[in-house]
Amino acid sequence: MADPYDLVVIGSGPGGYVCAIKAAQLGLKVACVEKRKTYGGTCLNVGCIPSKALLYASEAFAEAGHSFADLGIEVAPKLNLDRMMGHKDKTVKANVDGIAYLFKKNRIDGIIGTGRIKSAGEVEVTKEDGSSQTLQAKAICIATGSEVAGIPGLDVTFDETTIVSSDHAIALPKVPKTMVVVGGGVIGLELGSVWARLGADVTVVEFLDKVLGPMDQEVSTAFQKLLVKQGLTFRLGAKVTGVAKTRKGASVTFEPVKGGEAETIEADVVLVATGRKPYTEGLGLADAGVALDERGRVEIDQHFKTSVDGIYAIGDVVKGAMLAHKAEDEGVALAEILAGQSGHVNYDAIPSVVYTSPEVASVGRTEEELKKAGIDYKVGKFPFMANGRARAMLKTDGFVKVLADARTDRVLGVHVLGAGAGDLIAEAALLMEFGGASEDLARTSHAHPTLSEAMREAAFAAFAKPIHI
Ligand code: NAI
Repeated sequence: MADPYDLVVIGSGPGGYVCAIKAAQLGLKVACVEKRKTYGGTCLNVGCIPSKALLYASEAFAEAGHSFADLGIEVAPKLNLDRMMGHKDKTVKANVDGIAYLFKKNRIDGIIGTGRIKSAGEVEVTKEDGSSQTLQAKAICIATGSEVAGIPGLDVTFDETTIVSSDHAIALPKVPKTMVVVGGGVIGLELGSVWARLGADVTVVEFLDKVLGPMDQEVSTAFQKLLVKQGLTFRLGAKVTGVAKTRKGASVTFEPVKGGEAETIEADVVLVATGRKPYTEGLGLADAGVALDERGRVEIDQHFKTSVDGIYAIGDVVKGAMLAHKAEDEGVALAEILAGQSGHVNYDAIPSVVYTSPEVASVGRTEEELKKAGIDYKVGKFPFMANGRARAMLKTDGFVKVLADARTDRVLGVHVLGAGAGDLIAEAALLMEFGGASEDLARTSHAHPTLSEAMREAAFAAFAKPIHI
């Protein structure tokens, strides 16, 4: 029998493939089992990467049609959806091929097939042709991610043509005239934005009375106003109670959460984006004795160990934010732990980004969370309207908001609504990782003219006074 692997990872998404690579770099013998035909999981195949290709392309299309004229560029853009989808497909291919290359480079055995845990130490892999093999493993990492959850309490049939999940909303064959998005969370607003920019009349129906539920309220309110200006319609505080196919497309029935008459609207396409759930089907967890929590997530201790010795889990399949980079961080930490090092993830400094236009990004706590926790805080804000570079780029929407401890000045949360927010938030995450204060950020030299000066000015506003307002 061949030597056992030190680590067999099941799932090659950002959690799994990163864990595999880090473990191999640390000298472990590693295999990574993947059910899809290509590596990269939801993120690279049908999630983050393809949606960003479409978000970028559709934003360029919208800018060419709306704001280029103000820059002195007169064009009449014409959409070639097939080519835009081609750009998306090429982007996905380059990324998934990149993982296959990295596996080879790091001498990881990438195995395409469905993995099932027979017991601690054994993973059975079944190939498409029905053949199977059993891998011996000193450690097993479950990194199987998540799947579309559907609408809680409703039995929605996705035909993936008129009633679609995010997996298929990135591949519609033509721009629908009308689209209803159920759920005003990250997926609903990103993909709703794509199709709205390409010409669809988009209505978002959301249960809560705000979009992006966990986001800072002030940011959420300002962001929603900008989306309304872009043509999206919102029905907030509305609980969807039915989604059905109709002769022309599909209908969505919803009722006000606070009580009142139900209403039904029809659209060519309905995108259901009401969350994701851990994916553990067919993994053999019950037989192996791996415990799940009340929400179907694999239970782990602080070192990612499940209820069974030798079996670990990371990413969307365990508790915490369903974010690719959170999974990556956990993958690195677990590999380090397995190699005898002290891997650790600081869950208080994980940024979160919504890739709309403008982008929304945050790290740390919201103002509402600080109030609820009874923490005395101060706020520093700075609008992009007062930033020279933003004016030059005609990207003046939004602001930066820094929340710092009133007594110690330690930064507790940073929220950015504006162009490039997803990149700007990195310095806030770094600052928080080092336990920095708003004064530290304000005293750090920032190149002029850049959008990042708005970060510095908001920090100045928290600790003293901003210069440019
Ligand atoms: P989500 O949890 O962000 O939003 C779902 C929304 O649906 C919530 O606001 C909820 O109130 C609403 N909802 C639920 N039931 C409803 C009903 N019956 N009627 C009306 N509204 C209802 O989930 P989403 O957008 O599907 O995303 C899934 C996961 O993927 C999230 O954890 C998200 O963080 C992650 N993701 C992250 C991205 C990023 O970081 N840029 C991009 C895409 C997804």
